[in-house]
Amino acid sequence: MSQTILFASGKGGVGKSTLCLHLAGGLARRGRRVLVVETACGFRGLDTMLGLPGDTVYDLSDALEGRCSLGEAIRAHEESELRLMPAPSDPDYLPGEEKLDAFFHWGREAWDFFLVDCAPGFSPFTRRMARRCGRAVLVTAPEEVSARCTGRLSALLAQEGLLDQRLVIDRLPREFVPTPSLRDLDDVIDLAGARLLGVVPEQPGLPPPGDCPPEGAAGQALEAITRRLLGERVELTL
Ligand SMILES: Nc1ncnc2c1ncn2[C@@H]1O[C@H](COP(=O)(O)OP(=O)(O)OP(=O)(O)O)[C@@H](O)[C@H]1O
Ligand SMILES: [Mg+2]
Repeated sequence: MSQTILFASGKGGVGKSTLCLHLAGGLARRGRRVLVVETACGFRGLDTMLGLPGDTVYDLSDALEGRCSLGEAIRAHEESELRLMPAPSDPDYLPGEEKLDAFFHWGREAWDFFLVDCAPGFSPFTRRMARRCGRAVLVTAPEEVSARCTGRLSALLAQEGLLDQRLVIDRLPREFVPTPSLRDLDDVIDLAGARLLGVVPEQPGLPPPGDCPPEGAAGQALEAITRRLLGERVELTL
């Protein structure tokens, strides 16, 4: 069964794209067909994060509007089997509902994992993608504002019918400093309002996905989350 997963967050810079790419890399290393669909219109960056050579020519909007084939808009990652459909360059791009229906129909047929990496917050584009995804991975920093905004996003996604939501607490510093309103990670989970899928520690210099998982605690956490997405029971440690 194909999985369509929305990667979203209330606040920006929490690690969504990094997480999405590493999970995509981990799934691809296990032989799954994985497409990452980048939807941050006007603010493309995953081609750079993956270190893809040369310029992106065609993007998601070109594919959806028929200016190129779906295959022509897909960029290959040389170090792994993961594939990327880069974000539209037009910041105002909003695809029509029928085009998106056809795109997701193709996505479920052609890919084992169809991973949608969103801009932070809740744009009309994110809303349209959310209606078509089977699961959301909500990403939050272990901070009150980030967790509260993720809780708000969780409610908005539920209104769109996206009820299968999991939480990743990302960029956990070595020393978590408790505050009266955020005493521990349980408080983060309560504010964000979704079941925990994993916790990724802050690890400066995390490399892009490659032919093996990154070294260190962040790499182990990313591997554990990858396996949970595949339905394996992997113990959660906080
Ligand atoms: N576990 C981590 N440890 C250290 N740095 C990280 C970690 N995860 C992500 N980062 C860094 O945090 C920054 C933001 O990451 P990323 O672009 O993935 O966030 P984002 O949520 O996708 O941002 P945006 O909301 O702008 O799309 C990047 O510099 C990235 O390298
Ligand atoms: Mg991002």
